[in-house]
Amino acid sequence: MLIEELDKLKIETLKEIEYVQYDSRKDLAEIKVKIFGKNGALTVLSKGMKDVDPQERPRVGALINDVRKSIEEKFSDKENEFKARELNEKLENEKVDITEPSKGQKKGAIHPISDVIDKMIDICVKMGFSVVEGPEVESDYYNFEAMNIPKNHPSRDMQDTFFINENILLRSQTSAVQAREMEMRKPPFKIICPGKTYRNDSDSTHSPIFHQLEGLVIDENVSMADLKSMLTILMKRLFGEDTSIRFRPSFFPFTEPSIEVDVSCPTCHGKGCGLCKGTGMLELLGAGIVNPKVLEMAGIDSKKYRGFAFGFGLDRTAMILNSIGNIKYLYKNDIRFLEQMK
Ligand code: PHE
Repeated sequence: MLIEELDKLKIETLKEIEYVQYDSRKDLAEIKVKIFGKNGALTVLSKGMKDVDPQERPRVGALINDVRKSIEEKFSDKENEFKARELNEKLENEKVDITEPSKGQKKGAIHPISDVIDKMIDICVKMGFSVVEGPEVESDYYNFEAMNIPKNHPSRDMQDTFFINENILLRSQTSAVQAREMEMRKPPFKIICPGKTYRNDSDSTHSPIFHQLEGLVIDENVSMADLKSMLTILMKRLFGEDTSIRFRPSFFPFTEPSIEVDVSCPTCHGKGCGLCKGTGMLELLGAGIVNPKVLEMAGIDSKKYRGFAFGFGLDRTAMILNSIGNIKYLYKNDIRFLEQMK
């Protein structure tokens, strides 16, 4: 009886599995439960073993195993067949049509600030400067105190920045690198330091994040004449030979004497336009002879050595070179703006 039922179950189940179609492949799982589940047909028949004559048991046991194995194999054959078909369908749907015409690539351009940095580095390196960098998260000491700007001094107002804590801040000027390099290097040396700087400032010509390029020369007989001639060459190479340059007296705590430098507006060539607000000239940088106090704080003998320093606003330089009226354009990442900069 049991043997016949097992034979019947095997034949019928194999047929049932065989007839399952791809579209109704979920039926396979149901059939599995129907056969192997807790109350499944094979499970129930196997329980009949206990009533079989002990002599017959090995034969019946072997038959049960054979039925189980055949059905399991059939299941896995069928499942593999369906899986292969699913994969084929997926590949077919994902096929890439390489003959389809492309949408065209948007070409970027070098950002005006990167462009100015590259140009300035190129000019300065040819004049013998080395390029160095310093940290943007800086100590109060290097950013202010070593630059002869003591704590609570009113001259700090001009450079209000972002403080991480009482002694750590986002550097407000690349001049901080001067102090670091003077401590580390033995004079004579010539360095420039381009980099990001930060101030609590925001309008059409100021951004809380901006860029400066600091220059520093330390040697035995450095004078204001060297500074002026060097800056004149630098400006003419950057803005063109016909650029006129104006030096004005100014004040910085870390230079003495100090100057500010203006260039003739390259957009209107000094006639006066919107960019230079009708003045024909544009203020570009601060500079001066390094204050002996600053040299001494960095451990440089101020009796033997003198130095000059200058600090460019690179955003401003980029705006002047490209006739850009609002600093915000430099930070919006609008591809249409960058495309015009090509
Ligand atoms: N660090 C000054 C500023 O940010 C510019 C400067 C640099 C002036 C070097 C003199 C010498 O305003």
